[in-house]
Amino acid sequence: MLKKGYLVYGLQRRASTPNTYRIDHLYDNPKFPNFVTIYGDLSESSSLLNILSQIKPDEIYNLGAQSHVQVSFDVPEYTANVTGLGALRLLDVVRHLKLPVRYYQASSSEMFGKVSNEKYQNENTPFNPQSPYGLSKVFAYHLTKIYRDSYHIFASNGILFNHESPRRGITFVTRKITMGLSRVKLGLQGTLKLGNLSSQRDWGYAKDYVEGIWKIIQYKTPEDFVLATGETHTVRQFVEEAAGLLKFNLVWKGKGGKEVGIDKKRNKTIIEIDPSYFRLKEVDYLLGDASKAKKLLNWKPKVNFRKLVEIMLRNDFDLAKKELKLGRKVFVKKINI
Ligand code: GDD
Repeated sequence: MLKKGYLVYGLQRRASTPNTYRIDHLYDNPKFPNFVTIYGDLSESSSLLNILSQIKPDEIYNLGAQSHVQVSFDVPEYTANVTGLGALRLLDVVRHLKLPVRYYQASSSEMFGKVSNEKYQNENTPFNPQSPYGLSKVFAYHLTKIYRDSYHIFASNGILFNHESPRRGITFVTRKITMGLSRVKLGLQGTLKLGNLSSQRDWGYAKDYVEGIWKIIQYKTPEDFVLATGETHTVRQFVEEAAGLLKFNLVWKGKGGKEVGIDKKRNKTIIEIDPSYFRLKEVDYLLGDASKAKKLLNWKPKVNFRKLVEIMLRNDFDLAKKELKLGRKVFVKKINI
């Protein structure tokens, strides 16, 4: 957005220790004078009212959420409040202030949940969420449509399949794998512990997807669009791809909770299964059909699965090398991951 010349206001949730490491390079950087953050919270209507009435933005991108699916089982009420009601609060302020704004709602492929027979999921596929997170996203999705139709607000949903990058949080599976295997390779950790290796995801590159998000908001009418790559892979395949790039000679042994991944070269276990990472309810299979976005927005992703794993692994192997050089304590302080 900054490169496109926007003045960008970021809503910043107060935390007792800094958690802005992903955007720290934008602060006090003469290259980005147009970046401002303001304290506020999606759980508080008055803060949103204050901020929006001052800024009067042209576009709002609501990417805010408690976004971890498994954690949503531990904090379901908080998840519904921020992920679901947060969208209502924003849209209701827009309605009250009569702002002529374009509103983007970050909807999620997690809304499809357990799919029945459809090979691909698109804008017409029914939702069957499997978590408090997925359900909260369904609420926000429908509310966006209801406010669009009832109050004529320019409000669009982007239904995005998993999008990853080196900025992904380290508790999500892709980053956990690229970071974990890099650390195992350099002897910084013994094994990588994972949950369900069989679930399938349509993983794309976040940089491609933000371009799609922007295109959704520039489109002539407010509409809902799926963004996806049209390729699906198992968690196991992600592990195998990353392990191959790191030159592990990975073989699988055992079944279920007892399965392990062994590096044959050194005859050493590098992957273990930890039951605590299994979900109470799992979304087994996601594969998106983004043909509407391709046709109407001329959007298509540039980075495929193999390239994505490579981009993330290269970043994390470099980080692991830094950690090895500096020691964990200094590294964590410096890199702040
Ligand atoms: N996090 C995690 N950790 N997931 C694991 C692990 C593990 O150790 N082992 C296996 N998995 C499996 C999960 O069970 C799930 O099937 C899959 O890996 C992907 O999990 P996540 O990376 O946590 O992502 P997600 O698909 O649940 O949700 C992400 O994508 C959604 C879009 O569909 C999040 O970014 C959501 O916010 C987003 O809406």
